[in-house]
Amino acid sequence: TTASATPAAAPVRTLPDAQTVTAVTHWTDSLFSFRVTRPKSLRFRSGEFVMIGLLDYKGKPLLRAYSIASPSWDEELEFYSIKVPDGPLTSRLQHIQPGDEIILRPKPVGTLVLDALLPGKRLWFLATGTGIAPFASLMRDPETYERYDQVIMMHTCRTVAELEYGRQLVAALREDPLIGEFADKLVYYPTTTREPFERMGRVTDNLSSGKVFSDLGIPPMDPGTDRAMVCGSMALNVDIKAILEGFGLREGANSEPREYVVERAFVGDGI
Ligand code: FAD
Ligand code: A2P
Repeated sequence: TTASATPAAAPVRTLPDAQTVTAVTHWTDSLFSFRVTRPKSLRFRSGEFVMIGLLDYKGKPLLRAYSIASPSWDEELEFYSIKVPDGPLTSRLQHIQPGDEIILRPKPVGTLVLDALLPGKRLWFLATGTGIAPFASLMRDPETYERYDQVIMMHTCRTVAELEYGRQLVAALREDPLIGEFADKLVYYPTTTREPFERMGRVTDNLSSGKVFSDLGIPPMDPGTDRAMVCGSMALNVDIKAILEGFGLREGANSEPREYVVERAFVGDGI
């Protein structure tokens, strides 16, 4: 028959939950961002994370947690990533190119969501390193500005180059047709710790010394008005929680909204 004469189609090897890379930007030797297609079924709240990855050499999915850096209205998904030279995933992920496929499990979760905070007047985004990723999403979500009068983004990195991704996002906000009208509500306070810059010092030190409040001409944090979202290393998170509790803020969760929420930017050595 004609059917038996037809050669069998070669097996197509597609990744489970595959999405296609649409753009890649390298910011430094150790930082890059990339965009991928968005699964039609994926709904998420700005600030949440998903599991993404590649197949390992045995053909098994090698997945890691990644904050979605794009806002929930965006038709693509954006991620901001470290490059760990011997990291199982990022030693390979750093080489992705437009057209390549990655695995993306469409199950968003996380505590850095507006719903986990009580209403207030000022919202603080407190981040170190790649911990800016969830705030790259939240700072581009109109809901953030509908809920709060002012949003203060403090981001601390070792060097100026490591701040560039965040700096460009904030600069682009003003030109954005959807959120440009809210740009005046966002105050950006970047600092470095190991290279001279216009503002320096750890986010923790600038809060506990009161420097950020005097620089911005605003009153210190007050549990009646201020809410905070934190994303950094375990050490940063531990230190900053003590500072926020000192101001009278209490940690909230999806099930019990309060004055601040925390998420790890990564699981560090020895933890
Ligand atoms: P791993 O074996 O996972 O890590 C090796 C070592 O590298 C770690 O022990 C740690 O010391 C260091 N490291 C890992 N990630 C980072 C980082 N982001 N910054 C500094 N040092 C790091 N990573 C991102 O780059 N972007 C994100 O948006 C992001 N979101 C995350 C959200 C959550 C909730 C968690 C728990 C982690 C997140 N991570 C993020 C970390 C990510 O899951 C991986 O650890 C990272 O991609 C490295 O993977 P790897 O397999 O190459 O190395
Ligand atoms: P520092 O240079 O003083 O260590 P890393 O690159 O190690 O992940 O750190 C990213 C940024 O976070 C650096 O500017 C670093 O400052 C800062 N940092 C690291 N640990 C803490 C902490 N416990 N509290 C506040 N900032 C921290």
